[in-house]
Amino acid sequence: MADSDKVRGFRLWKRPSEKQKCRTATESEPTNQTKGKGQMRDLSKMTCIEDLRRVAKFKMPKMFYDYIDSGSWTQHTYRANTTDFAPIEFRQRVLVNMEGRSLESEMIGQKVKMPLAIAPTGFTGMAWADGEIHAARAAEKFGVPFSLSTMSICSIEDVAENTSAPFWFQLYVMRDREFMENLIKRAQDAKCSALILTADLQVLGQRHKDIKNGLSAPPKPTIMNCINLATKWEWCWNMLHTERRTFRNIVGHAKNVGDLSSLSSWTSEQFDPRLSWDDVARIKDLWGGKLIIKGIMEPEDAELAVKHGADAIVVSNHGGRQLDGAPSTIDALPDVVQAVGSQTEVWLDSGIRSGQDMLKAWAMGARGFLTGRAFLYGLGAYGEDGVRRALEIMYNEMDVTMAFTGHRNLSEVDKNILVEGTYPLPRR
Ligand SMILES: Cc1cc2nc3c(=O)[nH]c(=O)nc-3n(C[C@H](O)[C@H](O)[C@H](O)COP(=O)(O)O)c2cc1C
Repeated sequence: MADSDKVRGFRLWKRPSEKQKCRTATESEPTNQTKGKGQMRDLSKMTCIEDLRRVAKFKMPKMFYDYIDSGSWTQHTYRANTTDFAPIEFRQRVLVNMEGRSLESEMIGQKVKMPLAIAPTGFTGMAWADGEIHAARAAEKFGVPFSLSTMSICSIEDVAENTSAPFWFQLYVMRDREFMENLIKRAQDAKCSALILTADLQVLGQRHKDIKNGLSAPPKPTIMNCINLATKWEWCWNMLHTERRTFRNIVGHAKNVGDLSSLSSWTSEQFDPRLSWDDVARIKDLWGGKLIIKGIMEPEDAELAVKHGADAIVVSNHGGRQLDGAPSTIDALPDVVQAVGSQTEVWLDSGIRSGQDMLKAWAMGARGFLTGRAFLYGLGAYGEDGVRRALEIMYNEMDVTMAFTGHRNLSEVDKNILVEGTYPLPRR
């Protein structure tokens, strides 16, 4: 990126050549250090997403860990997203043939190894250097889709150059419509196979910690940040070996954003609070491919999304990061499935931390899932290997739970696997 070297703070850091490509753990030079690290890492000991979260917390700079692991205001919705899965119980069946199981299914016509995609998340390249590329590669190798956020550190072009499977691009609608149209064009040029329109971020939910930590990419060289970074040697080492340390979809592409000092003001000014269903029709037209609308919580909005041509909708409260006080997504799901489940694919995100959560929501009618924090914990802990491990963990949990409920294929699974009275029902 032409202007990235103007960003404040970069001059202190050794910059690799413009042409340098992302290096994964497996591809990096076989120095003793990387070899040793590889040998020491036994990811099979990471047995649940919580294990990965703990390691990520230890390894990541505080401001970026806090950015991931928080919700808005009181964090009520953030907590409810995970805790509302717990009371839902499975019916255990026995002495059923459990051989030859598969979680294979389809999301918007795309074959997937399990019905889970990596959610679009901003700042991902600050959880781990070149994080978007590492996560996209892990997803590609595993056989699930990857989505890239508008607010990613690696650009659309960076991810396209470093992967071969088509990925999905998530669009935030900006006041600068020329820039937005250009983003859509760049996603088309990169052969992205779907556009995710995020509908729940016309204004930004407040997360206290981000304000207190002075969140920025890269971190500002304050005393507190320097003290904290001094304990995060692996993160710093990896960051020193990439040039991707700012929002590369934006810097150098949007007007008047040459460096980061103007980016934060640009972002708060640019997210468009006037976004409406009329814009959706126009965006669908411009894009011309599969459209996923994310951030739907109410059946009325689900119906409007179908009317405006959504190929899939995501029941999502942005992982509890936007409207605090909204219900959990598992609670909102039944009304949405009842309203539009037969007309479009209803997916769900927010609060999924295990394959059991996915199976519960699948039984209730969700036909796909996005994972945000679960993959980010894996990424912050071990880069690409960690994302792969997070996917493996969730796959195994979903697969084994399906077997315990007496099924070998997701197409056979419905509400009958759940104990009546333990799962939410439509409110209407
Ligand atoms: C750190 C973080 C950054 C996010 N950034 C974006 C974003 O740039 N665009 C977007 O549409 N959603 C974003 N989201 C929301 C996710 O796409 C997804 O809806 C949410 O993470 C799902 O909840 P979960 O984290 O509990 O799985 C972000 C979520 C997190 C945790």
